Amino acid sequence: MTQPGHGLFLSFEGPEGAGKSTQIARLAWHLEAAGQAPTITREPGGTPLGTRVRDVLLDPELTIDPLPEFLLYSASRAQLVTNVIRPALDRGKVVVCDRYADSSLAYQGFGRGLDAALLRGITAAATGGLWPDLTVLLDLDPVIGLQRAARRGQPDRLEQADLTFHQRLRQGFVQLAEAEPDRFLVLDATLAEAELERMIWEAVHSRLPASRR
Ligand code: TYD
Repeated sequence: MTQPGHGLFLSFEGPEGAGKSTQIARLAWHLEAAGQAPTITREPGGTPLGTRVRDVLLDPELTIDPLPEFLLYSASRAQLVTNVIRPALDRGKVVVCDRYADSSLAYQGFGRGLDAALLRGITAAATGGLWPDLTVLLDLDPVIGLQRAARRGQPDRLEQADLTFHQRLRQGFVQLAEAEPDRFLVLDATLAEAELERMIWEAVHSRLPASRR
C-alpha cells in the first residue's frame, strides 16, 4: 500500500475486452479536470525495457512456457515500479496502471496453473511489496470479452488461449477481489460506459486527499 501522505496508486484489471482503456481515459480526464496531473501507465510496458518485453509476450508466433511467461511479466513490472510508479508516488502523484500484479495472479496463477505462493513471492521481490490503494475490476463473461477483443483485429498470444483458460482467470479475478474487498471495486463491465465512469470517479474522488479534491 502507498504510504499516507504520498500519492495514490490505482490499477485496472479484467479479462480481455472489458473496456479498461476507455475507462482509464475517462478517469484521466476527471483527474485532470480536478487539477491532478496523473501518471498513466500500463503492464506489460511503461518503460523502454517493458515495451520490448511486451512485444515478446504478445507475439502470437512464440511459444512461452508458464514460468518464463510469469518471469517476463515480473521483469517488466520490476522495472516499471522502480523507474515510474514509485518515483511518481513519492512526488505525491496519482498513478493509474492498466493491469498490475493481480493480472499475473489471475492469468499465470488461475489461468496457467502456476503455484500462488511462488507467484506472490516473486511478485513481492519485483514490486518491493507495493500494491494498489484501489483496484477497479471490470468483470466480464469471457465469451463477450473475446468477441469484443476480436473486433480490434488479430488476436495476440494471450487472446489465442482457449475459452476455459479465460473462464478460469475471470473466476480468479473474482476470488482475488473477494479476498480483499477493501482494495477492489468490482463492476459489471456490461453496464453503460457513462455509468461505469461515474462509479469509478466516485470511488477515486473519495480516496483523494481532501486538500486535492
Ligand atoms: P494488452 O494488449 O495490454 O491487453 P488488455 O488490453 O487486455 O490489457 O495485453 C496484455 C496481455 O497480457 C493481456 O492478455 C493480459 C496479459 N497479462 C498476463 O497474462 N499477466 C500479467 O501479469 C499482465 C500484466 C498481463
